[in-house]
Amino acid sequence: MTLEPGPLIDGDVEVGPDTLVLGIETSCDETAAALVMGGADVLSSVVSSQIELHATFGGVVPEIASRAHLELLNPVIARAIVEGGVDDRRIDAIACTIGPGLIGALLVGVSAAKALALAWDVPFVGVNHLEAHLYSALLDDPSIELPIVVLLVSGGHTMLVEMTAPGEYRVLGQTIDDAAGEAFDKVARFLGLGYPGGPAIERAAASGDPEAIAFPRAMRDDGLDFSFSGLKTAVLNHVRAHPDVETTDVAASFQAAVVDVLVHKARKAARSVGAKGLALGGGVAANSELRERMLDACTEEGLRGFLPSRAMCTDNAAMIAAAGWHRLRLDGPTSLEVGAFPNLRLTTE
Ligand code: KG4
Ligand code: ZN
Repeated sequence: MTLEPGPLIDGDVEVGPDTLVLGIETSCDETAAALVMGGADVLSSVVSSQIELHATFGGVVPEIASRAHLELLNPVIARAIVEGGVDDRRIDAIACTIGPGLIGALLVGVSAAKALALAWDVPFVGVNHLEAHLYSALLDDPSIELPIVVLLVSGGHTMLVEMTAPGEYRVLGQTIDDAAGEAFDKVARFLGLGYPGGPAIERAAASGDPEAIAFPRAMRDDGLDFSFSGLKTAVLNHVRAHPDVETTDVAASFQAAVVDVLVHKARKAARSVGAKGLALGGGVAANSELRERMLDACTEEGLRGFLPSRAMCTDNAAMIAAAGWHRLRLDGPTSLEVGAFPNLRLTTE
């Protein structure tokens, strides 16, 4: 059976500063909804984390994530609308992550978003989760002058992206194996520091010596791509060879190696495209060491540094609503026949 989109859903839509978008995010282990006006003004942003549900398993369990999204999504959406202080009839469009992510988790959000779009007779907008992360810096500081280079560092992705205009971007480099967040999570698990690994490593590293162990900086002076799987193996080998090593020193030295490569490549990328600024996005961008080193690098390079608040770095629906507003303006509504795409990529223009 094919769905027949209603006239408003399919037709031309006026998109302006007053256009109010409800964003929905269920790609992984955060159930989130947000109301954003004009692609920039966040009226509400509600995030319900499933971390505790997955912690005992040391990582996200897809089936548990889907079931939790089903239970949490309606109350989370309701709360976003109440906190936004608007009548639901005021909502102009529904934007939802269609990928990348866990298929069962994505389908919960996509189904809910389509149902709401049909019930309220407003456009549905499918959003690429990675593109949405690029908007998080702009959300916190709309005065950003483009072009900028965004270092997008999350649990599943590590990439350097040049953004020349909203909706126009070019991938300059990306990881050829593990993502930075994945390396944090795997090393933390090996060190017995718990899940999620990033914050756990950061806490342990605070009382360790970042120069205690000289971990490798793979591909540091070799283009704009990254590689983190060798570093992860180096940590495992070092701890096995030195069982008495202080965990805090391992965490601090590991973090220093990751941050060093990320910052070095980000400033090289900004220089190579003549960017006016450098922005961070994705969960790893919540890391204090990365934030400090990135700002230092920006000062040295004469660049503006944009650090989204930690809440905007990790998964949230405000960035989905913002990206949805831009997509609606640029491309119009998404067909209700669209599905979910676990391996969706950021297309290079
Ligand atoms: O963007 P995100 O919330 O979800 C994905 O789209 O993947 O990123 C989650 C990742 C996890 O790997 C987590 O360990 C990492 O971000 N992370 C951190 C920190 N907070 C979260 N990594 C390093 N330091 C942190 N403070
Ligand atoms: Zn994410």
